[in-house]
Amino acid sequence: MLPCTPGGADPSAGRSGQHGGVTTPTPPYPRGWFCIGFSREWKAGSVGTRRFMGGDAVVYRTRRGVLRVIRPYCPHLGAHLGAGGTVDGEYLVCPFHRFAFAPDGTCARTPYGTPPKASLTLLPSREAYGIVWAWHSPDGAPPSRELPALPGPLVSPRAFRVTEEAGRPQDVTERAVARILARSASRHVGLRVLGPGAALVVIEPVRRHLCAAPWGLVLWVLATPVSPGRVRRWTAGSAAVGPVARLPAAAPPHPAGQKDPARSGRSGTGSPTPSDPGS
Ligand code: FES
Repeated sequence: MLPCTPGGADPSAGRSGQHGGVTTPTPPYPRGWFCIGFSREWKAGSVGTRRFMGGDAVVYRTRRGVLRVIRPYCPHLGAHLGAGGTVDGEYLVCPFHRFAFAPDGTCARTPYGTPPKASLTLLPSREAYGIVWAWHSPDGAPPSRELPALPGPLVSPRAFRVTEEAGRPQDVTERAVARILARSASRHVGLRVLGPGAALVVIEPVRRHLCAAPWGLVLWVLATPVSPGRVRRWTAGSAAVGPVARLPAAAPPHPAGQKDPARSGRSGTGSPTPSDPGS
């Protein structure tokens, strides 16, 4: 995991939207860790731009493998660092006047002499489980919690479905998890909610007695706001061999009016929903 520094406040706070001719305030994006992509997308020396909380975020990886998520604009004259920014060793170099920024955000070098006291704005970020996460808080506060350590070997997930849809990340995650659970034939399902836009479902094989070692299919549901009322959702899968397949079974969230799978044969200990415990 790679700690960074706090980012700015929520650009969506206080914004309004039109719904059927009625103007309603858009709720701020929720607080938490959100997927911004997968570790394998950023090789050493690569730079890319992602939509995140109504704006752009630039993600880059230095030659030694340090990954950073930053606000996109150069503190010198505002060039977009995702449009032509390059990695030179451990520095991110601006395409306009070649100012170079160190992983802590400070300007470390310029072609014109002493570097100014200017700094990139780093977003708090982590790499965990093969996923790149960025922290968001409506008031710009630093992370109030860390991502949990997951037990057992976990293969880095691969996204097999990426969509953009309307809604809040909590609702999008809950609906997607409910669909996965409704389709699963296995009675041995574990659910872990990691935040308002992240949940993993571990499905053990139907015929467990045929397996020499415990294993499970891990399905990730990851939902990240990209603009007011719009969410990018990844459904990703990986295999796990070992105790991660023993996540506590839990009654899944289920849309109102649908039959609760926990009461139709699956073991369960409650009905957690993908809500942000810190909100
Ligand atoms: S705008 Fe980035 S170095 Fe001038």
